[in-house]
Amino acid sequence: TINQSTNILWHETMTSRPDREELLGQKGCVLWMTGLSGSGKSTLAYTLDHALNKMGRLSYVLDGDNIRHGLCNNLSFCSEDRTENNRRVAEVAKLFADCGVITIVSFISPYIKDREKCRSLLGPGEFIEVYLKTSIEVCEGRDPKGLYKKARAGIIKGFTGIDDPYEEPLNPEVLLNASAMTPEEMASHLLAYLENKGMLQ
Ligand code: PPS
Repeated sequence: TINQSTNILWHETMTSRPDREELLGQKGCVLWMTGLSGSGKSTLAYTLDHALNKMGRLSYVLDGDNIRHGLCNNLSFCSEDRTENNRRVAEVAKLFADCGVITIVSFISPYIKDREKCRSLLGPGEFIEVYLKTSIEVCEGRDPKGLYKKARAGIIKGFTGIDDPYEEPLNPEVLLNASAMTPEEMASHLLAYLENKGMLQ
């Protein structure tokens, strides 16, 4: 993308990120949930968010369905718009992490390059790719919003996993067998990951 903003200079701040992290007693990071529609991203995101909040940790969920009601409400599901959708949320997630917030992103984010773009915006260890691995059959069987049915009927075109691609993560920080695990089990797994990495000092 061409940067359209010209004649602008970066302004240094007086409070640093480590200052904010010390205030909060935690490290900012981005847990980027990716997976097919119906793989359980949103349920896991909000379960983890709630568990962290109960532990006195500040987290926040950026969820595809919700963000598409506001920040990204001018975007469709064509590949360019999915990329722009994921780019915007990556930039927002970077700001949240800079605030010291444990930022939980849950978007299908079907393209490797878009997820890697977010990784490149963050420091080492701050981007945690979480792949909710499921078969398309499991997601279609769940079909909580009836969207797979509509996609099969041709009412929705370009539906991920049906007639639009999903590029699996090649080397995610966390791989969850989302067909077999409950949201609580997956959230516990992620809490343990954060503890082990010293993100909850
Ligand atoms: S993306 O690909 O990252 O831009 O998608 P995202 O912003 O996460 O939005 C996914 C939710 O939008 C609904 N929906 C579709 N998904 C996939 N393909 C098509 N064509 C589509 N149209 C609408 C669907 O409810 C997704 O929600 P989840 O929570 O993933 O099931």
